Amino acid sequence: MPELPRPWSRPRRLRRTAVIRRMVRETRLTPDSLVLPLFLIDGDNRSQPVGAMPGQARLSIDLVLARCHEALQCGVGAFALFPALDPALKTPDAGEALNPANLLCRAVRAIKAAIPEACVITDIALDPYSSLGHDGLVRNGSILNDETVDVLSQMAVLHAEAGADIVAPSDMMDGRVAAIRAALDSADATDVAIISYTAKYASAFYGPFRDALDSAPVAAEDVPGDKKTYQMDTANAREASIEAMLDEDEGADILMVKPALPYLDVINRLRRATELPIAAYQVSGEYAMVKAAAANGWLDERAGMNEALVGIARAGADVIFTYAALDYARWWRENLP
Ligand code: PBG
Repeated sequence: MPELPRPWSRPRRLRRTAVIRRMVRETRLTPDSLVLPLFLIDGDNRSQPVGAMPGQARLSIDLVLARCHEALQCGVGAFALFPALDPALKTPDAGEALNPANLLCRAVRAIKAAIPEACVITDIALDPYSSLGHDGLVRNGSILNDETVDVLSQMAVLHAEAGADIVAPSDMMDGRVAAIRAALDSADATDVAIISYTAKYASAFYGPFRDALDSAPVAAEDVPGDKKTYQMDTANAREASIEAMLDEDEGADILMVKPALPYLDVINRLRRATELPIAAYQVSGEYAMVKAAAANGWLDERAGMNEALVGIARAGADVIFTYAALDYARWWRENLP
């Protein structure tokens, strides 16, 4: 072996002790960046565990308030709300979405009344309210774009009136960010921000979430059984840049990529394409994977979840939606490795 030139470069010098490793750490993910998604149900003092999401439950509004208080104590102050509706309230036209007294609007009012400093983020899409399980209106086997955008804009105004800080269209209809911005502005809700689900992929990792809301698209003769005509194809990354350009032009305040871990390249691509904050959603199936493997003793939950979340931040996400927000916040306080 030939003589190596000295001094050698020895990157291991900076990995030698915990203090040095922490000193040169490049990515620091704090609870400030996290958003906790919450599932709502009607009633009092009700908690229904979600089968494939250990540690998560559908909660009645009183218990949601308790959970928000608990989260704030751990440093997590932002919440994304998803209503799990009584099936009797779901219709093909998703009419309950526009009821100002629906479960979601009541929850927003309750949280903002009890905890004004909480950041309440509402989901703009029709699937929790649709008996067909689609994010938009369905006619003759198609998901209607412009008609859906009209309904979504009205929904956004309702959520703003209920007190939402941020509305988050997760439906992937074309042109909805501009329409929602215009509707909010003409309703004097100029301070309500928009997190656009810019690159939302047609993903198998939404499975546990659809169980939680009982919102899987129903396959019927005149209803598509998947969301592939509006959610993006897994194989596409350039298309995410096109969506990002459009959303930024249309007035989005934050751009989101979803799911997160299988799309780290897309997170990074959008991080480089815009100066807007980038959010990423570690979705139900990503959470379930870590939980299930840990429950089997196949990996260490805390280290595995930490690695996934820091990886998402390292790729370029400023904001992370994660069901593990409280776990992470507690670990972080105990000074994660
Ligand atoms: C639908 C919506 C979905 C999620 C959030 N909003 C699922 C879907 O598109 O079917 C999934 C979130 C998760 O899996 O954690 N508007």
